[in-house]
Amino acid sequence: MKIGTWEPKGFCALAPMAGAADRAFRELCVSYGASFCVSEMVSAKGIVMGDRKSDSLMEIGEDERPCAVQLFGSEPAAMAQAAVTALRHKPDFIDINMGCPAPKVTKTGAGSALLKDPVLAAKIVRAVKDAVPLPVTVKMRVGWDASPFDPAGFAQAMEAAGADMITVHGRTRLQMYAPPVDRSAIAAVKRAVRLPVIGNGDIDSPEAARLMLEETGCDFLMIGRGALGRPWLFRAVNAYLGEGIMLPEPDGEEKMRVLMRHAELICRYRGERIGITELRKHALWYTKGMRGGARLRSRFSTMKSLSELRELAEEIAAGC
Ligand SMILES: Cc1cc2nc3c(=O)[nH]c(=O)nc-3n(C[C@H](O)[C@H](O)[C@H](O)COP(=O)(O)O)c2cc1C
Repeated sequence: MKIGTWEPKGFCALAPMAGAADRAFRELCVSYGASFCVSEMVSAKGIVMGDRKSDSLMEIGEDERPCAVQLFGSEPAAMAQAAVTALRHKPDFIDINMGCPAPKVTKTGAGSALLKDPVLAAKIVRAVKDAVPLPVTVKMRVGWDASPFDPAGFAQAMEAAGADMITVHGRTRLQMYAPPVDRSAIAAVKRAVRLPVIGNGDIDSPEAARLMLEETGCDFLMIGRGALGRPWLFRAVNAYLGEGIMLPEPDGEEKMRVLMRHAELICRYRGERIGITELRKHALWYTKGMRGGARLRSRFSTMKSLSELRELAEEIAAGC
């Protein structure tokens, strides 16, 4: 599979996740074999207005490449201008969000609301494509609500507008993140376009990755929540699909070592005070289901420093 001129290695990419897949987490996932990453979604309007937070969301480190900047918005001209501004962070491609279900996004006509207006969605793809010398990709859902929707026809319109790849999250906007994932809709998109198609939704194990590939015929995979607190999932999926090897889940000690590595990265990029606060939710994901972890987990909510976290991680590892 090629995205523009480059060819991703392995089988699966890390999904964009606002508030979770930041630079630190993306770098960690790439170190475990994620083939590429996508930034948290960034508002085109925010970028155009020079908002500093929007700009910082577009920062890409050398250790997380290839990485896209993902834009959301509903105005073709603003999306094109934002894509040009994004170039200063040297993204490897630009991804356009057509899947976000959050009302604050959809009420402006952006995110998954674009599924209801394929003509506008195509204008956005064309405008961004004309504005930047990079591959332009689309991330969509398979419908707005339960009413009939033709995801394959929508994807064909994006292809005709110049999209270089399409990621399909096999759920409607109404479903949010609830099961089931409609793999037959992803398969229909794959059959309808010549572009590379990435299957996304509920891939949380090597077997689930194989199921997505087999049932949809998609070219590549994208993993979101399955990797939270489990960045090693990319290594496991690559080993299983590439060599037929099922790697064991890391033991508690190794999990705590990865948590500390994550903590160091997040503190490097965000500073210790903000970094530790942001790490709290990740710490809960890392210790989910771990024996002996429950008693200590409430302490994550009050920890304030890397040294406090190190002590706690050592205690948890020793109790495993
Ligand atoms: C916390 C969170 C934040 C997300 N943020 C984004 C985002 O910024 N852009 C986007 O296209 N999708 C976003 N998504 C959707 C994911 O990229 C992915 O499509 C979805 O979670 C389904 O994949 P999964 O079942 O592997 O998690 C987000 C999902 C979660 C759980």
